[in-house]
Amino acid sequence: MGVAIEVDNVIKRYGDHTVINGLSLEIKPGEFFTLLGPSGCGKTTLLRMIIGFNTIEGGEIRVDGQVINKIPTNRRNMGMVFQNYAVFPHMNVRDNVAYGLKTRKVDKAERRRRADEMLKMVKIDQYADRMPAQLSGGQQQRVALARAIVIQPDVLLMDEPLSNLDAKLRVEMRNVIKRIQHQIGITTVYVTHDQEEALSVSDRIAVMHDGVIQQIDTPKRIYLRPSNEFVAGFIGLTNFLPADNDDGVLDFGNKYRVPVNTLVDGSPRAVTVSARPEEITIHRVDEPGIPGEIRSSVFLGTSTHYFVAVSGDKEVEVTVPSDLSDTLEDGTRVSLRILPDKVNIFNRESRASLIREGV
Ligand SMILES: Nc1ncnc2c1ncn2[C@@H]1O[C@H](COP(=O)(O)OP(=O)(O)OP(=O)(O)O)[C@@H](O)[C@H]1O
Ligand SMILES: [Mg+2]
Repeated sequence: MGVAIEVDNVIKRYGDHTVINGLSLEIKPGEFFTLLGPSGCGKTTLLRMIIGFNTIEGGEIRVDGQVINKIPTNRRNMGMVFQNYAVFPHMNVRDNVAYGLKTRKVDKAERRRRADEMLKMVKIDQYADRMPAQLSGGQQQRVALARAIVIQPDVLLMDEPLSNLDAKLRVEMRNVIKRIQHQIGITTVYVTHDQEEALSVSDRIAVMHDGVIQQIDTPKRIYLRPSNEFVAGFIGLTNFLPADNDDGVLDFGNKYRVPVNTLVDGSPRAVTVSARPEEITIHRVDEPGIPGEIRSSVFLGTSTHYFVAVSGDKEVEVTVPSDLSDTLEDGTRVSLRILPDKVNIFNRESRASLIREGV
């Protein structure tokens, strides 16, 4: 089940302002595909092109091979969930969900049967007769989700559906969405700027910046093997450290040299190393490493975070699994070392990854 979506070299202009200039991606049948990127990068714009709320100024969007550029929204058989719920305030929960079936001329008994089935699926059947104003934000978003999928759309589009909810409810609702998507196997395009949410629900993620795709990959690869510095910095926390690549040996100065075997052949000398807080270890100051001084620390239960001042007015964040040994005092001088297999290495000039395929 599920349809394939191909976005082929599409262009979007608002007046003479080009927001998307030739963007391509392919979404597989039944896939949970997420568009992730900072505010204003074009996520909503692309979603609205897929559902037909936006015109397309160039290129093609195809669903199962059929060009849909000129097909009106109401004939695309897609369901959409918005950030602000957009449920009808004057209709009870069941009627809200059944609404799309009414416009599709499904008879009354069948409408009720299918609406009730959906309400069970999203687990709000006990509120079927309530008005939306009597529901919490999370419950209203369940109504919106049920309403989008009751029409059995080929594609489910969701634009930041959880961003109006509090942190705990967001986690709960993203699990609901993931479970239901899996259950019905519907091709889903999800938009968020919350990277943890994207990592937790998606089969694949497209990271966007200024209307341009930076990387399309599984959550794991996006996090562990970002294709450029933008992706490395946008997803999770990282520290960027300059180094010289001396024929496969990273030279950080101060006699700290680390052989790495992840670099592509012909990598340049000037590189930037991206080391996440958990990819750095702390050593005694008389051992080789990048010299630094502990500025502050925070105990966060499973881990302790250290903020370490290094040369060039930079601060490096390091996380260490917590234990009962003493936390390093502020002002302690230390040496920092990277985990060579884990870190990512970028061309300092082009900012593209220099990591070979397959590692
Ligand atoms: N109707 C419009 N007319 C003109 N410019 C628009 C219009 N809609 C969006 N834009 C511009 O297009 C760019 C992309 O906007 P879009 O809403 O797609 O971003 P987004 O990635 O969804 O951001 P956010 O995370 O804030 O929702 C922005 O620069 C925005 O100002
Ligand atoms: Mg948006």
